Amino acid sequence: DKGGWSSFMAKEISEEPEAVANTIRGRIHEGQVEIPELDGLDELFAGINRVIIVACGTAAYAGQVGKYAIEQWARIPVDVELAHEFRYRDPVIGDDTLVVSISQSGETMDTLMAVKYAHERGAKTLSICNTQGATIPRESDAIVYTHAGPEVAVASTKAFVAQITALYLLGLHVGRVRGTLSAVEAEQHVRELESIPAKIRRIIDEEQGRIEQLAHWMADTRSVLFLGRHVGFPIAMEGALKLKELAYIHAEGFAAGELKHGPIALIEAGQPVFVIVPSPRESAELHKKVVSNIEEIRARGARVIAIAEEGDAAVLPHADEVLRIPLAGPLFEPLLAVIPLHIYAMALSMAKGLDVDQPRNLAKSVTVE
Ligand code: F6R
Repeated sequence: DKGGWSSFMAKEISEEPEAVANTIRGRIHEGQVEIPELDGLDELFAGINRVIIVACGTAAYAGQVGKYAIEQWARIPVDVELAHEFRYRDPVIGDDTLVVSISQSGETMDTLMAVKYAHERGAKTLSICNTQGATIPRESDAIVYTHAGPEVAVASTKAFVAQITALYLLGLHVGRVRGTLSAVEAEQHVRELESIPAKIRRIIDEEQGRIEQLAHWMADTRSVLFLGRHVGFPIAMEGALKLKELAYIHAEGFAAGELKHGPIALIEAGQPVFVIVPSPRESAELHKKVVSNIEEIRARGARVIAIAEEGDAAVLPHADEVLRIPLAGPLFEPLLAVIPLHIYAMALSMAKGLDVDQPRNLAKSVTVE
């Protein structure tokens, strides 16, 4: 039931704040992460020296965001692999490896086969999944459910922010178990995570109208590029994937630092480019670099739509449009920066008169390899 919304996607984007809040709920005790499902499983994290995240599509981008946080907090190397690539290259894994799978449906065949393969090779397996009792969690040693609620629209939105949230909870938990994160630090991150749902709500309330307007003007656009750096890089790729899926527009996400190594050749007059700008307070150096990337593409005629922190005045002279997100610590920005991109892809699809819930050629759960 769409509950009065024009589409399931509109409803599910409006539920992104709750997807985060419900995934946190019941897992914080006195400022510390306590995940009941992981009770008694400390040995799962104690004996490992690496983590491999396996997933497909949007779930893999959530994994890439999670990598930054888990490495930083738990000081353990994390690789992110597309599940369908993983088992065909004889990966180096064993009982020192924790394989974390991420799947909204829990039925994606590529991801399931990667988990089974990891298990056969003696690795430990943990499933981050949105669907109770699905096949992938049943095949795993441990489960951390995301509580985004049922996702009906084929393209994933609220499950994505819930997946990042679950990865962050996991990163904080493993950081505490391994002793790489103090209780005081962990509590700061917990508080920050708890502040995210209200910030997402604010973006929806304050920017949705402008983004829809922007999408309306851009209904004839044939190509859109997305640039990001650090945790903004997987968000750029997520923005591009959503646009391909929902609006059938050619889109690419790039790491901003990679621009001069090739992609800048794509820039010509009028090319729309979304740029996710890191916080000038939290990451002054990266902010400066991304602003200079904006100048470079602007000088070549790009039309720049910046997604920037409130109060970041330095981007103003360089961008054609600025979409604002509330202040957040550097690792938490992705949970905010992705919201305008989800709204934009939906709005552009609608501006083109397409079916946002059921894009052509796609199925909600991909149960064939
Ligand atoms: C993109 C999208 C897909 C899924 C991917 C994995 O909007 O929905 O890329 O993320 O097919 O699906 P799950 O998470 O069910 O394994």
